[in-house]
Amino acid sequence: MLFLPYPKTRREELYDRENELKELEEAISRGERLVLLLGMRRLGKSSLLNVALNELPNPSVKIDVRKTYSEYSSVNRYIIGKILLSSLSGKKLVEEVKSFLSRVRGITFSGMKVEITSKDFSITELLEALNEYGRERGRVVIAFDEAQYLRFGGATKYDGIIAYAMDNLENLTFILTGSEVGLLFDFLKFDNPEAPLFGRYHHDILLERFSKELSEEFLRRGFEEAGFSVREEEIEDAVEELDGIVGWLSLYGYIRATRKLNHEKALEEVLKEAKSVINTEISRLFAYSPRYRIILKAVALGYSRWSDIKDYLTLKLGYINDSNFSILIENLVKYGYVEKKEGRYTIPDPVLAKVFREI
Ligand SMILES: Nc1ncnc2c1ncn2[C@@H]1O[C@H](COP(=O)(O)OP(=O)(O)OP(=O)(O)O)[C@@H](O)[C@H]1O
Ligand SMILES: [Mg+2]
Repeated sequence: MLFLPYPKTRREELYDRENELKELEEAISRGERLVLLLGMRRLGKSSLLNVALNELPNPSVKIDVRKTYSEYSSVNRYIIGKILLSSLSGKKLVEEVKSFLSRVRGITFSGMKVEITSKDFSITELLEALNEYGRERGRVVIAFDEAQYLRFGGATKYDGIIAYAMDNLENLTFILTGSEVGLLFDFLKFDNPEAPLFGRYHHDILLERFSKELSEEFLRRGFEEAGFSVREEEIEDAVEELDGIVGWLSLYGYIRATRKLNHEKALEEVLKEAKSVINTEISRLFAYSPRYRIILKAVALGYSRWSDIKDYLTLKLGYINDSNFSILIENLVKYGYVEKKEGRYTIPDPVLAKVFREI
Protein backbone atom coordinates (compact mmCIF):
# COMPACT_ATOMS: atom_id res chain seq x y z
CA MET A 1 0.00 0.00 0.00
CA LEU A 2 1.44 3.34 -1.09
CA PHE A 3 0.25 5.17 2.03
CA LEU A 4 1.46 2.62 4.55
CA PRO A 5 3.23 4.81 7.09
CA TYR A 6 6.32 2.65 7.66
CA PRO A 7 9.55 2.35 5.69
CA LYS A 8 8.78 0.43 2.53
CA THR A 9 10.55 -2.78 1.57
CA ARG A 10 9.26 -3.69 -1.89
CA ARG A 11 9.49 -1.88 -5.19
CA GLU A 12 5.70 -2.00 -5.76
CA GLU A 13 5.21 0.05 -2.59
CA LEU A 14 7.69 2.67 -3.66
CA TYR A 15 6.39 5.60 -5.64
CA ASP A 16 8.79 7.08 -8.20
CA ARG A 17 12.49 6.91 -7.14
CA GLU A 18 13.34 4.61 -10.07
CA ASN A 19 16.36 6.72 -10.95
CA GLU A 20 17.76 6.77 -7.44
CA LEU A 21 17.15 3.05 -7.05
CA LYS A 22 18.93 2.36 -10.33
CA GLU A 23 21.82 4.61 -9.36
CA LEU A 24 22.22 2.83 -6.02
CA GLU A 25 21.99 -0.64 -7.53
CA GLU A 26 24.45 0.22 -10.28
CA ALA A 27 26.96 1.70 -7.85
CA ILE A 28 26.88 -1.54 -5.89
CA SER A 29 27.18 -3.75 -8.93
CA ARG A 30 30.12 -1.65 -10.18
CA GLY A 31 31.85 -2.52 -6.93
CA GLU A 32 31.91 0.94 -5.40
CA ARG A 33 32.95 0.76 -1.78
CA LEU A 34 31.25 3.73 -0.21
CA VAL A 35 27.85 5.08 -1.17
CA LEU A 36 26.11 7.84 0.77
CA LEU A 37 22.35 8.17 0.61
CA LEU A 38 21.53 11.66 1.78
CA GLY A 39 18.43 13.75 2.24
CA MET A 40 16.16 15.49 4.66
CA ARG A 41 14.10 13.48 7.07
CA ARG A 42 11.01 11.67 5.76
CA LEU A 43 12.08 11.69 2.11
CA GLY A 44 12.37 7.91 1.97
CA LYS A 45 16.04 7.06 2.52
CA SER A 46 15.31 3.98 4.62
CA SER A 47 12.63 2.86 2.17
CA LEU A 48 14.95 3.18 -0.80
CA LEU A 49 17.69 1.36 1.06
CA ASN A 50 15.36 -1.49 2.06
CA VAL A 51 14.11 -1.97 -1.47
CA ALA A 52 17.63 -1.91 -2.93
CA LEU A 53 18.93 -4.43 -0.39
CA ASN A 54 15.95 -6.71 -0.96
CA GLU A 55 16.46 -6.72 -4.70
CA LEU A 56 20.18 -7.25 -4.54
CA PRO A 57 21.52 -10.68 -5.45
CA ASN A 58 24.31 -10.21 -2.89
CA PRO A 59 24.09 -10.82 0.84
CA SER A 60 23.62 -7.69 2.90
CA VAL A 61 23.26 -6.55 6.47
CA LYS A 62 21.60 -3.36 7.62
CA ILE A 63 21.93 -1.61 10.94
CA ASP A 64 19.63 1.18 12.05
CA VAL A 65 22.27 3.13 13.96
CA ARG A 66 19.81 5.76 15.25
CA LYS A 67 17.61 3.08 16.77
CA THR A 68 20.62 1.22 18.14
CA TYR A 69 21.93 4.36 19.78
CA SER A 70 18.59 5.24 21.33
CA GLU A 71 18.28 1.70 22.66
CA TYR A 72 21.79 1.25 24.07
CA SER A 73 23.04 4.87 24.40
CA SER A 74 26.20 3.70 22.68
CA VAL A 75 27.25 2.08 19.44
CA ASN A 76 30.52 0.51 20.58
CA ARG A 77 31.94 -2.48 18.74
CA TYR A 78 30.22 -5.05 20.93
CA ILE A 79 26.83 -3.55 20.23
CA ILE A 80 27.31 -3.08 16.49
CA GLY A 81 29.05 -6.48 16.30
CA LYS A 82 26.14 -8.11 18.10
CA ILE A 83 23.64 -6.62 15.68
CA LEU A 84 25.74 -7.51 12.65
CA LEU A 85 25.96 -11.07 13.88
CA SER A 86 22.31 -11.31 14.82
CA SER A 87 21.33 -10.22 11.34
CA LEU A 88 23.30 -13.22 10.11
CA SER A 89 21.91 -15.53 12.79
CA GLY A 90 18.98 -17.79 12.19
CA LYS A 91 19.24 -17.55 8.46
CA LYS A 92 20.62 -20.06 6.08
CA LEU A 93 23.34 -17.42 5.93
CA VAL A 94 24.82 -18.56 9.20
CA GLU A 95 25.61 -21.93 7.67
CA GLU A 96 27.06 -20.23 4.64
CA VAL A 97 29.28 -17.83 6.54
CA LYS A 98 30.22 -20.15 9.40
CA SER A 99 33.49 -21.25 7.87
CA PHE A 100 34.51 -17.63 7.31
CA LEU A 101 33.39 -16.47 10.76
CA SER A 102 35.30 -19.20 12.53
CA ARG A 103 38.42 -17.07 12.10
CA VAL A 104 36.95 -14.19 14.06
CA ARG A 105 38.14 -14.18 17.66
CA GLY A 106 35.69 -13.71 20.50
CA ILE A 107 32.56 -15.21 18.92
CA THR A 108 30.84 -18.52 19.50
CA PHE A 109 28.28 -20.51 17.55
CA SER A 110 25.33 -22.13 19.24
CA GLY A 111 22.89 -23.75 16.86
CA MET A 112 21.69 -21.18 14.38
CA LYS A 113 22.97 -18.32 16.51
CA VAL A 114 26.32 -16.69 16.67
CA GLU A 115 27.29 -14.48 19.58
CA ILE A 116 30.10 -12.37 20.93
CA THR A 117 31.53 -14.13 23.94
CA SER A 118 34.78 -12.39 24.71
CA LYS A 119 36.43 -9.00 24.83
CA ASP A 120 38.83 -10.09 22.09
CA PHE A 121 36.10 -9.48 19.52
CA SER A 122 37.23 -7.12 16.76
CA ILE A 123 34.93 -5.57 14.24
CA THR A 124 37.77 -5.42 11.73
CA GLU A 125 38.16 -9.18 11.90
CA LEU A 126 34.44 -9.59 11.37
CA LEU A 127 34.63 -7.35 8.29
CA GLU A 128 37.61 -9.34 7.02
CA ALA A 129 35.54 -12.50 7.36
CA LEU A 130 32.59 -10.89 5.54
CA ASN A 131 35.00 -9.79 2.84
CA GLU A 132 36.08 -13.40 2.33
CA TYR A 133 32.45 -14.40 2.17
CA GLY A 134 31.91 -11.57 -0.33
CA ARG A 135 34.66 -12.99 -2.52
CA GLU A 136 32.51 -16.07 -2.92
CA ARG A 137 29.16 -14.26 -3.25
CA GLY A 138 30.26 -11.40 -5.47
CA ARG A 139 30.12 -8.80 -2.68
CA VAL A 140 28.64 -8.19 0.75
CA VAL A 141 26.80 -4.94 1.36
CA ILE A 142 26.87 -3.39 4.80
CA ALA A 143 24.39 -0.59 5.33
CA PHE A 144 24.35 1.83 8.24
CA ASP A 145 21.07 3.70 8.32
CA GLU A 146 21.50 7.14 9.94
CA ALA A 147 25.24 6.66 10.07
CA GLN A 148 25.94 9.99 11.75
CA TYR A 149 25.18 8.15 15.01
CA LEU A 150 28.34 6.10 14.48
CA ARG A 151 30.14 9.08 16.00
CA PHE A 152 29.02 7.75 19.39
CA GLY A 153 31.27 4.69 19.04
CA GLY A 154 33.47 5.74 21.98
CA ALA A 155 36.73 3.83 21.67
CA THR A 156 35.47 2.21 18.46
CA LYS A 157 36.45 4.56 15.63
CA TYR A 158 34.18 3.73 12.72
CA ASP A 159 35.73 6.25 10.34
CA GLY A 160 39.07 4.44 10.71
CA ILE A 161 37.41 1.06 10.37
CA ILE A 162 35.57 2.09 7.20
CA ALA A 163 38.75 3.61 5.75
CA TYR A 164 40.65 0.38 6.43
CA ALA A 165 37.88 -1.65 4.81
CA MET A 166 37.75 0.63 1.78
CA ASP A 167 41.48 0.24 1.24
CA ASN A 168 41.80 -3.46 1.93
CA LEU A 169 38.49 -5.26 1.70
CA GLU A 170 37.54 -5.12 -1.93
CA ASN A 171 34.41 -7.26 -1.65
CA LEU A 172 32.57 -4.98 0.75
CA THR A 173 30.34 -2.05 -0.10
CA PHE A 174 29.24 0.31 2.64
CA ILE A 175 26.06 2.30 2.27
CA LEU A 176 25.62 5.09 4.78
CA THR A 177 22.41 7.05 4.97
CA GLY A 178 22.08 10.32 6.79
CA SER A 179 19.41 12.90 7.37
CA GLU A 180 21.62 15.06 9.57
CA VAL A 181 23.91 15.60 6.62
CA GLY A 182 26.17 18.17 8.31
CA LEU A 183 26.75 15.85 11.24
CA LEU A 184 27.47 12.93 8.93
CA PHE A 185 30.13 14.91 7.05
CA ASP A 186 31.59 16.19 10.34
CA PHE A 187 31.95 12.60 11.40
CA LEU A 188 33.39 11.28 8.11
CA LYS A 189 35.79 14.25 7.67
CA PHE A 190 36.62 13.68 4.01
CA ASP A 191 38.28 17.12 3.91
CA ASN A 192 40.53 16.73 6.91
CA PRO A 193 44.05 15.57 5.96
CA GLU A 194 44.50 14.20 9.48
CA ALA A 195 41.37 12.03 9.24
CA PRO A 196 41.29 8.38 8.11
CA LEU A 197 38.76 8.94 5.32
CA PHE A 198 40.51 12.01 3.92
CA GLY A 199 40.09 12.26 0.16
CA ARG A 200 38.31 8.91 -0.18
CA TYR A 201 35.92 8.57 -3.11
CA HIS A 202 32.28 8.35 -2.15
CA HIS A 203 29.30 8.16 -4.43
CA ASP A 204 26.60 10.47 -3.10
CA ILE A 205 22.93 10.02 -3.92
CA LEU A 206 20.77 12.89 -2.79
CA LEU A 207 17.06 12.34 -2.28
CA GLU A 208 15.04 15.44 -3.07
CA ARG A 209 11.45 16.18 -2.26
CA PHE A 210 8.85 15.38 -4.95
CA SER A 211 7.76 18.11 -7.34
CA LYS A 212 4.24 19.52 -6.99
CA GLU A 213 3.00 17.39 -9.89
CA LEU A 214 4.57 14.18 -8.60
CA SER A 215 3.23 14.84 -5.11
CA GLU A 216 -0.31 15.37 -6.39
CA GLU A 217 -0.08 12.23 -8.48
CA PHE A 218 1.18 10.30 -5.46
CA LEU A 219 -1.89 11.32 -3.47
CA ARG A 220 -4.28 10.57 -6.34
CA ARG A 221 -2.83 7.12 -6.80
CA GLY A 222 -2.75 6.34 -3.12
CA PHE A 223 -6.38 7.35 -2.61
CA GLU A 224 -7.40 5.41 -5.66
CA GLU A 225 -5.64 2.34 -4.35
CA ALA A 226 -7.35 2.80 -0.98
CA GLY A 227 -10.73 3.23 -2.72
CA PHE A 228 -11.26 6.59 -1.04
CA SER A 229 -12.52 9.50 -3.04
CA VAL A 230 -11.23 13.01 -2.46
CA ARG A 231 -11.69 16.33 -4.22
CA GLU A 232 -9.03 17.71 -6.53
CA GLU A 233 -8.80 20.98 -4.51
CA GLU A 234 -8.06 18.96 -1.41
CA ILE A 235 -5.18 17.21 -3.14
CA GLU A 236 -3.78 20.54 -4.25
CA ASP A 237 -4.18 22.03 -0.80
CA ALA A 238 -2.55 19.04 0.89
CA VAL A 239 0.51 19.42 -1.35
CA GLU A 240 0.53 23.15 -0.66
CA GLU A 241 0.61 22.43 3.10
CA LEU A 242 2.87 19.37 3.18
CA ASP A 243 5.06 20.09 0.17
CA GLY A 244 6.74 17.19 -1.64
CA ILE A 245 7.76 15.44 1.57
CA VAL A 246 6.59 11.89 1.00
CA GLY A 247 6.59 11.00 4.70
CA TRP A 248 3.99 13.68 5.44
CA LEU A 249 2.01 13.03 2.25
CA SER A 250 1.70 9.35 2.98
CA LEU A 251 0.78 10.01 6.60
CA TYR A 252 -1.96 12.41 5.50
CA GLY A 253 -3.26 9.87 3.00
CA TYR A 254 -3.12 7.03 5.49
CA ILE A 255 -4.92 8.94 8.23
CA ARG A 256 -7.57 10.16 5.84
CA ALA A 257 -8.23 6.89 4.12
CA THR A 258 -8.15 4.63 7.17
CA ARG A 259 -9.87 6.91 9.65
CA LYS A 260 -12.28 8.38 7.10
CA LEU A 261 -11.45 11.93 8.14
CA ASN A 262 -12.18 15.06 6.19
CA HIS A 263 -9.35 17.08 4.67
CA GLU A 264 -8.94 19.66 7.44
CA LYS A 265 -9.12 17.11 10.21
CA ALA A 266 -6.51 14.91 8.51
CA LEU A 267 -4.12 17.86 8.14
CA GLU A 268 -4.60 18.64 11.82
CA GLU A 269 -3.75 15.06 12.69
CA VAL A 270 -0.57 15.22 10.62
CA LEU A 271 0.43 18.32 12.53
CA LYS A 272 -0.33 16.64 15.84
CA GLU A 273 1.76 13.66 14.83
CA ALA A 274 4.58 15.97 13.72
CA LYS A 275 4.51 17.69 17.11
CA SER A 276 4.88 14.49 19.02
CA VAL A 277 7.66 13.22 16.74
CA ILE A 278 9.50 16.52 16.98
CA ASN A 279 9.20 16.71 20.73
CA THR A 280 10.99 13.43 21.14
CA GLU A 281 13.51 14.15 18.41
CA ILE A 282 14.47 17.58 19.48
CA SER A 283 14.22 17.43 23.26
CA ARG A 284 17.82 16.25 23.47
CA LEU A 285 18.94 19.32 21.57
CA PHE A 286 16.87 21.62 23.76
CA ALA A 287 18.47 20.07 26.81
CA TYR A 288 21.85 21.41 25.60
CA SER A 289 20.57 24.94 25.27
CA PRO A 290 17.15 26.59 25.59
CA ARG A 291 18.32 29.02 22.92
CA TYR A 292 17.76 26.41 20.19
CA ARG A 293 14.03 26.65 20.74
CA ILE A 294 13.98 30.42 20.29
CA ILE A 295 16.22 30.33 17.23
CA LEU A 296 13.94 27.78 15.58
CA LYS A 297 10.95 29.90 16.44
CA ALA A 298 12.57 33.02 14.97
CA VAL A 299 13.43 31.26 11.71
CA ALA A 300 9.96 29.72 11.54
CA LEU A 301 8.42 33.16 12.01
CA GLY A 302 10.28 34.34 8.93
CA TYR A 303 13.43 35.97 10.31
CA SER A 304 16.02 34.81 7.83
CA ARG A 305 19.09 37.01 8.30
CA TRP A 306 21.77 36.06 10.79
CA SER A 307 21.54 39.42 12.55
CA ASP A 308 17.73 39.48 12.72
CA ILE A 309 17.63 36.01 14.23
CA LYS A 310 20.29 36.99 16.74
CA ASP A 311 18.34 40.16 17.66
CA TYR A 312 15.19 38.12 18.22
CA LEU A 313 17.11 35.71 20.44
CA THR A 314 18.70 38.54 22.41
CA LEU A 315 15.33 40.14 22.95
CA LYS A 316 13.90 36.91 24.31
CA LEU A 317 16.78 35.43 26.27
CA GLY A 318 19.35 38.16 26.71
CA TYR A 319 22.87 38.75 25.45
CA ILE A 320 24.79 36.15 23.48
CA ASN A 321 28.10 36.80 21.74
CA ASP A 322 28.47 36.43 17.99
CA SER A 323 30.54 33.30 17.90
CA ASN A 324 28.33 31.42 20.37
CA PHE A 325 25.28 32.37 18.36
CA SER A 326 26.96 31.21 15.15
CA ILE A 327 27.73 27.84 16.71
CA LEU A 328 24.10 27.37 17.71
CA ILE A 329 22.62 28.28 14.36
CA GLU A 330 25.20 26.26 12.42
CA ASN A 331 24.38 23.26 14.59
CA LEU A 332 20.74 23.58 13.59
CA VAL A 333 21.88 23.57 9.97
CA LYS A 334 23.98 20.46 10.59
CA TYR A 335 21.00 18.71 12.14
CA GLY A 336 18.98 19.62 9.06
CA TYR A 337 16.29 21.59 10.92
CA VAL A 338 17.43 24.81 9.31
CA GLU A 339 18.69 25.38 5.79
CA LYS A 340 21.13 28.09 4.79
CA LYS A 341 21.03 29.40 1.25
CA GLU A 342 22.73 32.55 0.03
CA GLY A 343 23.16 33.77 3.57
CA ARG A 344 19.47 33.32 4.46
CA TYR A 345 18.13 30.81 6.96
CA THR A 346 14.85 28.95 6.50
CA ILE A 347 13.05 25.87 7.82
CA PRO A 348 12.91 23.55 4.80
CA ASP A 349 10.01 21.46 6.09
CA PRO A 350 6.72 23.42 6.16
CA VAL A 351 5.16 21.09 8.71
CA LEU A 352 8.07 21.57 11.10
CA ALA A 353 7.96 25.31 10.44
CA LYS A 354 4.37 25.29 11.69
CA VAL A 355 5.34 23.32 14.78
CA PHE A 356 8.31 25.60 15.53
CA ARG A 357 6.18 28.73 15.18
CA GLU A 358 4.21 27.56 18.19
CA ILE A 359 7.03 26.36 20.43
N1 LIG B 1 8.91 6.49 -2.64
C1 LIG B 1 7.99 6.34 -1.70
N2 LIG B 1 6.74 5.96 -2.02
C2 LIG B 1 5.78 5.80 -1.08
N3 LIG B 1 5.98 6.03 0.23
C3 LIG B 1 7.21 6.41 0.62
C4 LIG B 1 8.27 6.56 -0.32
N4 LIG B 1 9.37 6.94 0.35
C5 LIG B 1 9.01 7.02 1.64
N5 LIG B 1 7.72 6.70 1.81
C6 LIG B 1 6.98 6.73 3.09
O1 LIG B 1 7.40 7.92 3.78
C7 LIG B 1 7.69 7.67 5.14
C8 LIG B 1 9.13 8.02 5.43
O2 LIG B 1 9.96 7.12 4.72
P1 LIG B 1 11.35 6.61 5.26
O3 LIG B 1 11.24 6.24 6.69
O4 LIG B 1 11.86 5.62 4.31
O5 LIG B 1 12.17 7.98 5.12
P2 LIG B 1 13.56 8.40 5.73
O6 LIG B 1 14.16 9.36 4.79
O7 LIG B 1 14.35 7.18 6.08
O8 LIG B 1 13.10 9.14 7.04
P3 LIG B 1 13.92 9.38 8.38
O9 LIG B 1 14.93 10.41 8.06
O10 LIG B 1 12.87 9.84 9.33
O11 LIG B 1 14.54 8.09 8.79
C9 LIG B 1 7.34 6.20 5.37
O12 LIG B 1 6.05 6.14 5.89
C10 LIG B 1 7.37 5.57 3.99
O13 LIG B 1 6.44 4.55 3.87
MG1 LIG C 1 15.14 6.52 7.82
